[in-house]
Amino acid sequence: MLKGKTILVGVCGGIAAYKICSLVSALKQAGAVVDVVMTQNAQKFVTPLTFQSLSGRLVHTDMFAAVEAGNWEIDHIALAKSADLIVIAPATANVLGKLANGLADDLLTTTVLAAKAPVLLVPAMNTGMWENAIVRDNVKKLGKFGFRFLGPAKGKLACGDSGSGRMTAPEEILEAIKKIAG
Ligand SMILES: Cc1cc2nc3c(=O)[nH]c(=O)nc-3n(C[C@H](O)[C@H](O)[C@H](O)COP(=O)(O)O)c2cc1C
Repeated sequence: MLKGKTILVGVCGGIAAYKICSLVSALKQAGAVVDVVMTQNAQKFVTPLTFQSLSGRLVHTDMFAAVEAGNWEIDHIALAKSADLIVIAPATANVLGKLANGLADDLLTTTVLAAKAPVLLVPAMNTGMWENAIVRDNVKKLGKFGFRFLGPAKGKLACGDSGSGRMTAPEEILEAIKKIAG
C-alpha cells in the first residue's frame, strides 16, 4: 500500500521514541522508503543505529554533516523534496513550539519548514505539558497552518501520571499514514 512512497519519520526526545522502532519496521514492510530524522535529544532515548538497521537507510541527525562530508546535496532540502508525508512521533512540546513559531534550528525543524508534503504530528508528553496554555496555543496555531494531529490518547504515562499525553499506538499511526499517503 505504501510501495514507492517516501515517508519521513521525525523522532524527538521523548520516552515514546522506542515505540517508533516498530513503526519504522512496519513502514518498511509495507513497502515505503523510510527516512528517519532524529533530534539530538531523541538520540538519548534510541540510537540512530537502531533506526538505520530497521529502515535500511542512513539516519539523519545533523544539519551540517552531509555538506561537511563533501556531499553538495543539502540534506534538509533533499529530504523535504523527497518526502510524500512527514510524520513526527513522538512530537515533543519543544518541537511543537518551534514549529508553531517558524523556528528552524535543527535538521528536523528546518526540513519541515522547507517541505510541501503534509505533516502529521503525533504528540506525546506529560499531561501538565499537554494542558499548558502555551502548548494549547501552539497546537491551535499549528492546526491553522495545516498541520495534522493524531492523539495524544489518555492513559497511564511513563512518568507515573495518568491523563492526556500518551502517544497514539504505532499500529494506529501506521493506519493514519496509509490513509494520508497510501
Ligand atoms: C526521561 C525523559 C522523558 C521525556 N519525555 C518527554 C516527552 O514525552 N515529551 C516531551 O515533550 N518532552 C519530554 N522530555 C523533555 C524533552 O526531552 C526536552 O524538552 C527536550 O528539549 C526535547 O528536545 P527535542 O524536542 O529537540 O527532541 C523528556 C525528558 C526526559 C529526561
